[in-house]
Amino acid sequence: MSTLVARNVWRFYGRAPAVSGLDLEVEEGSVYGFIGPNGAGKSTTLRILATVDRPDAGRVWIRGRCTQQETDRVRKMLGFMPDPFGMPDGFTVEQLLEFFAIAYRLPRRIRRERVQRAIELTRIGERSKQKVTDLSKGWKQRVLLAKTLINDPHLLLLDEPAAGLDPAARIEFRDVIRTLRDLNKTVIVSSHILTELADFCDSVGIIERGRMLVSGRIEDILERFNPRDRLVFEIAGPAEIAARLLEREADVRQVSHENGPTPDTKRLVVELDGRSDAQRRAAIVSLLARNDVQVSGLSTQREGLEDLFLKVAGKQGAGRNDRHSEDEIRSLLGGEELDEARSQRGRPKIALREKRP
Ligand SMILES: Nc1ncnc2c1ncn2[C@@H]1O[C@H](COP(=O)(O)OP(=O)(O)OP(=O)(O)O)[C@@H](O)[C@H]1O
Ligand SMILES: [Mg+2]
Repeated sequence: MSTLVARNVWRFYGRAPAVSGLDLEVEEGSVYGFIGPNGAGKSTTLRILATVDRPDAGRVWIRGRCTQQETDRVRKMLGFMPDPFGMPDGFTVEQLLEFFAIAYRLPRRIRRERVQRAIELTRIGERSKQKVTDLSKGWKQRVLLAKTLINDPHLLLLDEPAAGLDPAARIEFRDVIRTLRDLNKTVIVSSHILTELADFCDSVGIIERGRMLVSGRIEDILERFNPRDRLVFEIAGPAEIAARLLEREADVRQVSHENGPTPDTKRLVVELDGRSDAQRRAAIVSLLARNDVQVSGLSTQREGLEDLFLKVAGKQGAGRNDRHSEDEIRSLLGGEELDEARSQRGRPKIALREKRP
C-alpha cells in the first residue's frame, strides 16, 4: 500500500517551473531517498507534500486523503522537518518539545510521554535541559527531528536532515531512521549527497530541474540500468599478458592498468558488460592461471546507486558519453507510456481533474 501518492505536481515561481509534472509514490513503512542537486526542486516538493505550500497543479494524497481537500486530517498524519528552520528563542530542548506538543493540541496526559519518547528515539536525553539556541548545529538537527516526531506521525518528511552532521552523528542519524522504519513509519528524506542516503533507503527518486528522472525501489532501478561489475585483479609480476588475455574475452568492456599495493604487483581493473557470478569469476581466474599469470588477489566492485546517480545526473566527473540522456532514462522506465499519459493530461489545467488513485 502506498502512504503517499503525488500525481503531476507543478509549482511555478514566475514563469519558471520549480517542479514540473512530478509523480511520486511511496510505500508504507519504507524509507524513500529524494535526491537531486542544488536547486532541483526537493524543498519545493517537500513543502507541497507537507501542505505548507500549494501546488499550482496536480494532486497529492496521503494515506488516501487529498492534501488540499482534507488538509487538517492530513497534517495530523505527517511530521515535517524543513530546511532551513528557525527555532524560537529561550526554550530548553524539553520545553521546546512540550511547546510543540501543546501546539499539536495533544491532551496533557500524553504530552509528557510523547516528549520523552521523542527524546529517547532521537537520543538527545543528555541535552534535554540545555537551551536549544546554545546547541551545535548537529544537535539542533536532532532536536528538530524530535520535534517532527511529537505528533506520532505516520509519514515523516525530512528536508536535508543530515546536513551539517559529523560522520559519527550521521551514523547515529541512520540508526534513528532505521528505528523509525521498524516502527512502521514511512520516511521521505532529501539530500543532494547520494551516499548519505544509499545505505538505508529502500527506494529513491532522482530529481533534476524539477523533473523526476528515476523513481522506485533501488534494486529495481539498478537492474534497469544494466549494472556492471568491475573485477580488480592483483597480479604478481608483469600484467601485460593478463591484460591481453582479458581483453579477448567477449564480456570484457575495458581493461585498465594501475600500480599494485607493493612494487612487485600490478593491478588490472576489468570492466565487465554486466554482473558477474562466482562461476564467471572462477573461469577468468583459471584462464589466467593456465597462462602462468600469478593472480595474488581479486576483488569485485559492484556498480551501485552512486554510479547510477552519476549516469543520471552526470554532475560529478562522469564523462558525458557515459551519461544516459533524459530520454534514455525515461525509455528505460517505460517513459513512452508516461509521456503519453502526461501529454493527455497536459499542463496544469487538465491535471486538476485527476482521479483519486
Ligand atoms: N520562494 C521562491 N521564490 C522563487 N524561486 C524559488 C523559491 N523557492 C525556490 N525557488 C526556485 O525553485 C527551484 C527549486 O528550488 P528548491 O529550493 O526546491 O531546490 P532544492 O532541490 O531544495 O535545492 P537545495 O539542494 O539547494 O536545497 C530553484 O531554481 C529555486 O531558485
Ligand atoms: Mg532544499
